[in-house]
Amino acid sequence: MVLVSDLSRHEGAEVTVAGWVDQLRVHGKVAFVVVRDGSGYVQNVLVKKDLPAEVWDLAVSLTQEACVEVTGVVRSEPRSPGGFEMGLTALRLVGPSSEYPIQPKEHGVEFLLDHRHLWLRSSQQRAGLRVRAEVEQAIQDFMYSRDFVRVDTPILTGSIGEHAGTLFATDYFGENAYLAQTGQLYAEAACPAFRNVYCFGPTFRAEKSKTRRHLTEFWMIEPEMAFVDSEGNMAFQEQLVTYLVERALERTRPELELLERDLSKLENVKTPFPRLSYTEAIARLAEKGSETKWGEDIGGADETLLGEDADRPVFIYNYPKQVKAFYMKENPADPRTVLCDDLIAPDGYGEIIGGSQREDDLDRLLARIREERLPEAAYGWYLDLRRYGTFPHSGFGLGLERTVAWITGRRHIREMIPFPRLINRLYP
Ligand code: 4AD
Ligand code: MG
Repeated sequence: MVLVSDLSRHEGAEVTVAGWVDQLRVHGKVAFVVVRDGSGYVQNVLVKKDLPAEVWDLAVSLTQEACVEVTGVVRSEPRSPGGFEMGLTALRLVGPSSEYPIQPKEHGVEFLLDHRHLWLRSSQQRAGLRVRAEVEQAIQDFMYSRDFVRVDTPILTGSIGEHAGTLFATDYFGENAYLAQTGQLYAEAACPAFRNVYCFGPTFRAEKSKTRRHLTEFWMIEPEMAFVDSEGNMAFQEQLVTYLVERALERTRPELELLERDLSKLENVKTPFPRLSYTEAIARLAEKGSETKWGEDIGGADETLLGEDADRPVFIYNYPKQVKAFYMKENPADPRTVLCDDLIAPDGYGEIIGGSQREDDLDRLLARIREERLPEAAYGWYLDLRRYGTFPHSGFGLGLERTVAWITGRRHIREMIPFPRLINRLYP
């Protein structure tokens, strides 16, 4: 058996390809069966008079998404996408498919999501998810090349990672366990062991938001770096994001083209990214007609406004303490604020990264935990990190689906994960 992507190496030979029927066209005594095998598409040409009757009859009765093994002679065909086609000599039906639900017509998105297990086979979905897989690999390569140690953090946790409002709780032998909102606190613990670390896995938020930017289960990469301050943190973030865009352009260009992404916009993504302090951002927002006041959080609509002037992502740094998580380090130059940054992608994709320098002072951290009314007992181990060799450190979380949605130009992040979990969706 050979892969469609390898057909060029078999010109003139008879080979067998296995895959799923994408299309059947019958023109009198000639028929064309297009098969998709995951590596590409190949057109098989059948001539009735050259084939046993049962092969012809089976071929013209094939239906969309039937699984088949096709045997034929490989020949060059400049008009076909891969440059080759097959002159079919034999055919085996592996798995029939009758009345495939997804037809080449417009279906509503809820119908497609209900059939996500089949929708995955469609060309745009495959393109988006292939870019996702490439970005995941690029993240791993980037971190590995910089000597970061990957540390896998728990999904069942006792400590609240971000804030109390969006927790999924589950019964853990009579105790409450939460699904991790973040792996950050555990990554911080691994820093003194390895210096630079990251975790990369699924995270969970019981977000009541039904927007194009929210999933209840999403993947996040979270680096944590010892002896790096907020400035160094932002510099690292823009290098990572630039690398991810370069890799997508280099290795998934056909997919981005299929998705009709404007590649010139991605080619503009170069360091440095613009930086605006929160205070400057509020002033900029006021000029744009937003009513958000100093002290309030910058919401999705505001992020869209802030992202619209630049051709690359924009940093907003040093937010007021009260709108950010308890672990962020107080800004010595203005204690109303913390040393943090959000990275806002252009074109309405919103925040793709949230990061900060961490509070490394035991008393100030404890005071913040109390202020936020978090269950202090659950943070004993986390506070130990400030008791035994506390150190300046910073880190961030990059949301995989939001980043891939921006890179591919797809509007909704639900298409950027194979099986999205949304407020109203746990199926399939
Ligand atoms: O800003 P967030 O909440 O930061 C943290 O979780 C930190 N603990 C990260 C860290 O410093 N280690 O989330 C980080 C990113 C966001 O910028 C966004 O890209 C993504 O995670 N994100 C979501 N993506 C999809 N659906 C949601 N509901 C998301 N919530 C956050
Ligand atoms: Mg955030």
